[in-house]
Amino acid sequence: MNTDRYLTFALGKGRLAKKTLELFEKIGITCEEMKDKDSRKLIFVNEELKLRFFLAKGPDVPTYVEYGAADIGVVGKDTILEEARRVYEVLDLGFGKCRMCVCGPESAKELLEHHERIRVASKYPKIAKDYFYNQKHQTVDIIKLNGSVELGPLVELSDVIVDIVETGSTLRENGLTVLEEVCPLSARMIVNQVSMQMEQERIGKLIKDLKDVLKEEA
Ligand code: PRP
Repeated sequence: MNTDRYLTFALGKGRLAKKTLELFEKIGITCEEMKDKDSRKLIFVNEELKLRFFLAKGPDVPTYVEYGAADIGVVGKDTILEEARRVYEVLDLGFGKCRMCVCGPESAKELLEHHERIRVASKYPKIAKDYFYNQKHQTVDIIKLNGSVELGPLVELSDVIVDIVETGSTLRENGLTVLEEVCPLSARMIVNQVSMQMEQERIGKLIKDLKDVLKEEA
């Protein structure tokens, strides 16, 4: 085991990072430095455990992990599917649960049923394309948006959207509804393929400890 080497974690900024650190605390992994909200630091270190953490934009997390700039990453399944990087997905952390869905006005249901050539707006063009082309065998036009995707059908940019639904309130407040479910989502742990071999012992223990805590909580 190489204990001189730091294990580096890339965490997706925001809610997932907070939840991840709470979970890590339960297995004795802490990073006090990271709790200082006024800090502008980008990399946080736990010298004792030889761990480094950094926060990155969600979609960049699989990139850092694929290239080995981080050994381990925590990010949503949506991002893993969309980025399609060569990484190992090793654990479902169980939080950040939501669904990837095809949504739109009730009236769009018919267009889906009849496999019409419709316009689909999404922040996740790859997931949308895979769903319509490979799973439904329906030819559609995909329009990439970067956020507030629900606007698509409201301003007649698209017939439907493929987007994340958590509580459903964004849809409800805008007169839209879930038309089809693409897949369930949650936070996942990913590991660099070389690190998995080289740091088998440390990473293996980390995965086992996390699994034990998750099982206790279930
Ligand atoms: C996400 C998603 C939906 C909303 C779903 O957007 O894209 O818009 O949350 O949550 P709900 O079902 O609980 O209403 P986010 O807030 O991340 O911002 P974005 O629209 O800019 O992507």
